[in-house]
Order: sequence, then structure tokens, then C-alpha cells
Amino acid sequence: MVKVGIEKINLYIPEYYIDIKKLAEKRLVDPNKYLVGIGQEKMSIIPSSQDIISMASNAAINMIDDEDRKLIDQVIFATESGIDFSKSAATVVHDILKINSFASSFEIKQACYSTTAAIKIAVNYIKQNPGRKVLVLSSDISKYGANTPGEVTQGAGAIAMLISENCEILEINSKFIFATKNAYDFWRPNDCKYPIVDGKLSIKLYIELFNLCFESFIDKYQNFDEISSMIFHLPFSKMRDKALQSLDDKYIDFKTKHLSEITSKILCKNIGNTYTGSLYLSLLSLLYYGNINEHEKIALFSYGSGAVGELFTMNLSADYKEKIRKLEIDKRLNSRKEVSIEDYESKYFDNMLKLKDNSRVKLSKIIDSIRYYEIDEP
Ligand code: CAA
Repeated sequence: MVKVGIEKINLYIPEYYIDIKKLAEKRLVDPNKYLVGIGQEKMSIIPSSQDIISMASNAAINMIDDEDRKLIDQVIFATESGIDFSKSAATVVHDILKINSFASSFEIKQACYSTTAAIKIAVNYIKQNPGRKVLVLSSDISKYGANTPGEVTQGAGAIAMLISENCEILEINSKFIFATKNAYDFWRPNDCKYPIVDGKLSIKLYIELFNLCFESFIDKYQNFDEISSMIFHLPFSKMRDKALQSLDDKYIDFKTKHLSEITSKILCKNIGNTYTGSLYLSLLSLLYYGNINEHEKIALFSYGSGAVGELFTMNLSADYKEKIRKLEIDKRLNSRKEVSIEDYESKYFDNMLKLKDNSRVKLSKIIDSIRYYEIDEP
């Protein structure tokens, strides 16, 4: 049996943020509602020189090498902040990263679930084509608008993962449960600048699909005794607690064990919602800040509004810690610069925030609806 998993992973953390406490003060809201009730502390902000393509490219550019460029057969771009109805963002990243010409490149969508779908496509492809690799990218800019209930949960960022038989970080297991329920909890019609959100319904649906997947997983496979950590798609960090608390009391031991785990929330608290990347941001958060032993098993709950849920598991590899530690996530978070609430309100929503950008890949101009990028060669 061919084993397939994550060989390499990296993230792009925007260089700017706003302070959630200051946002609460500006909105005349008790800061504890945002800090404790919703569980957010900082929100990533991108300058006008970043978009979903540059963020995804920045996540991947230092991660892949020339050997990977030759072996990658697919570039799959998961996003719900797409910039074109026809041409995929993947074709542009394929060019920026200089991937071999014989790879296919495409974009996929199902709200925040699509990165998980991309991983599934990648796993199946590699099982049929051993030795080859797939580059999965997720990149999103979450904006709901000023003075909206969703504002405090906004964020931006990208994740890049190289999927192959070299399960250097972890192996993806073939036990999973999917669920779909057609609903309008969060959606963004083509003519809308921001998503339309029924916040309370979205939380209810998330919890419903999580419980459905959880119970079905147990019925189909096993109990969760061997799971060392349970991670979630996190639109805001408190969602993890809400999901765990919603489980039936017969799972009290599971709830108690996993509610005390807080490291998988650190990156969401400090970056915000990265939509398609959010679950994998929780994974990185756990692997970077947590103390999980090699070879342990992790369960993941992926959710995408509209709505699709999936529960599946992964097995950590030997030496994963060493590779994750090299990402220096702490250093990247701590070197960010703060943007004032005034600049955020007046410039961010119309992409007018012109700030120094130290990223390797930057959007330099848009002429006749064609995007041009500047790439700093090392
Ligand atoms: N101190 C401490 N806690 C306080 C407080 C205070 N002073 N004041 C209020 N709170 C608590 C409330 O009791 C509440 O806690 P519970 O949820 O445990 O009851 C919490 O703070 C939030 O308060 P509200 O429910 O009043 O908040 P809200 O209605 O203003 O907005 C929200 C919350 C619905 C999540 C909103 O931010 C939103 O719409 N976000 C976008 C949608 C979203 O993220 N949905 C999540 C599921 S959908 C999904 O996962 C897909 C995706 O990525 C979008």
C-alpha cells in the first residue's frame, strides 16, 4: 500500500496586523467580548502589494526546490477569495514558482473546505502515480466590512503543502467521514464585495455537521481513544471550544481531554480567519507550539459553509518536530508591525494600504486586468 502524506508545509503570515482590543474600543464594545467571547487578539492585514496569488507564492517559494519543480504534476489552488471566474490563480503561481510545463494547474471551491478536497485529490493522484508530487495551496483574504459582526474574525494568509509519498511531516490516513447539507449560512454571490453571513446559523450548522461526522466516524471505525489531538477549522478561536462542548456527555472524557489543549488556537488568535487555510493553520499551530510526540495520531475536522464537513485522521512522522521548528513561526509573528485602526478603516477595505513589503513575491501592477508580479530572486 502506497503511503501518502505531507512532505513539506509552510505558511505566509502577512507583515501587518491590527490590535483587536483597540478595534473593540473603537467599536464601543467591551474588549472581553472579542478577546474572550470570540477569542481573537490580532488580525492580519495585507498591504496593497499582496493578493491571494502573491501570498500563496510566498508560502511556497522558499519551500520547494528544483527537484520538486520537476516532480510536481499538479498545482491545486484552494480559495474563496478568487479574483477571476475563468483563469485559475494556480496558473499564475505555476509560472511564478517555475514549476515544470507538464503539470496541470487548477482552482477549486467549496468555502473553507476546499483545501481538504485538494488534499484528497492529491492523495488519490499520488497513489496512482507513485514518485510524483502535488502542490496544494490555500490562500484567502477574509473581509466582512467595518462595523459588521464578522469584522473581528477577519484575517488573511496562505498555506503551501507538498503532498507526496515522502511523509516527512505526516501520513494522511484513509479513514474519513464526509457530510453535506445544502444551506445558506455564509455565501458570496458573484456581485457582492463581502460575504453574506447568518452568523448564528453558521455556528449551528458547523456544530451539526461536526456531531454528525463524529458519531458516524465512531460507528464506522472506532472510538477516539488513540487520538492524541483533535484540531478544527477555526473561523475564530472560540469555535474549537464550542464544537467540543457540543458533544454528547457520553464523550465527557474526550471533551475534558481536548478542551484543555490550547496550542492549536494560537495562530488563529493572532492571525484571524484564513478561510481555506484555517484548519491547516490550526495544524501548524499544534505542531509548532504543542508537545505532540512523534508517530501520534491527530483527528481533523474540516468545515466549509454551504455546507460540507469532513472528519479524518493523520499520523505524525518521526523527526517532524525538527522540520516544523525551522519555520520560525514565532519570529515571523513577533516581527509584524501594527496598523492603526484609522488607517485600517480608511484604506484597507479598498486595497489602498500602501506599506513597505518585505515579501519575496509582490503584486506590482494591474494593467488591462492583467496582474504583474515582482519576484525577489535570492
Ligand atoms: N465578555 C466575555 N464574553 C462576552 C462578552 C463580554 N463582555 N460579551 C459577549 N460575550 C460572548 C457572548 O456571550 C458570546 O459567547 P457564546 O457564543 O459562547 O454565547 C460571544 O461573546 C460572541 O457574542 P455574540 O454571539 O453576541 O457575537 P456576535 O453575534 O456579535 O458575532 C459571530 C459572533 C456570529 C461569530 C460573528 O463574528 C460572525 O458572524 N462571524 C462570521 C461567521 C463565522 O465565523 N461563523 C462561524 C461558523 S461558519 C465557518 O466556520 C465558515 C467560515 O470560516 C466563515
